[in-house]
Amino acid sequence: MVDDFSMSYIDSAEMTTILLIHGFPLSSALWWPQIEELEDMVRIIAPDLRGLGDSDATPPPYTIEMYAEDCVSLLDTLGIDEPVIVGGLSMGGYVALALYREYPERVGGLILTATRAAADSADGRVNRDRAIAQVEAEGIEPLVTGLLPRLLAPDTVAEEPALVAYVEEMMRGSKPDGVIGALMAMRDRADSTELLSRIDVPVLILHGQQDQIVPLAEAEAMAAAIPDARLFPLEAAGHLPNLERADVWNMAVAQFVATLQASGTR
Ligand code: MLT
Repeated sequence: MVDDFSMSYIDSAEMTTILLIHGFPLSSALWWPQIEELEDMVRIIAPDLRGLGDSDATPPPYTIEMYAEDCVSLLDTLGIDEPVIVGGLSMGGYVALALYREYPERVGGLILTATRAAADSADGRVNRDRAIAQVEAEGIEPLVTGLLPRLLAPDTVAEEPALVAYVEEMMRGSKPDGVIGALMAMRDRADSTELLSRIDVPVLILHGQQDQIVPLAEAEAMAAAIPDARLFPLEAAGHLPNLERADVWNMAVAQFVATLQASGTR
């Protein structure tokens, strides 16, 4: 009621909310093409995980569950208690799966990009320890230089220098304690493979066909194990398909959101 009549109105904040969780060692800046292009359709909450981007770096160790709890605390602080669509890229996908495991009532759908359900192998854990020792001894620069070309498809590196520079700057913004904490969290993360068959919300899986960090086969395995999952492989994209093929990633996500809205799930 407004004064003496019932007024109908649109409140643009009354939109489906997507929580987008970035990968390693990145920040919420990962999601700029989504903030720009999807803002009329969805409300996007994109945190900087503890120790990364502009968030404070508490002393490590961190865990993937701690990141998930931080994200839920952010939703609580914003007064969002309805289920949201949770999207995560790579390490952000590990967090999204942990968030679903720990707080299923907060999740209305999942968008898993360039990620996997399995835990680190024994060799993988040894490599995390080496990376931790290197950051402790030399700072983050060697990690940035070594990882950057592997994050993007070879064609992206050759043809999109501005995008390469953007990702490099984002990586350089990470604090050493945040990077060490993230490496520990990834090294010690739980295996989520068993969880997959119990996921009872719709799931969209997006994966670059030229991903050099997480092979496409990992995404195919997740899609086969999750009851309601759709896999969307992206051509000419590496480990950051939402940046490298933002148009296609956004279109797939917009369709996913529209389907959830039409079915009344969100
Ligand atoms: C990421 O992109 O978040 C990480 O590279 C994932 C990982 O190292 O497992």
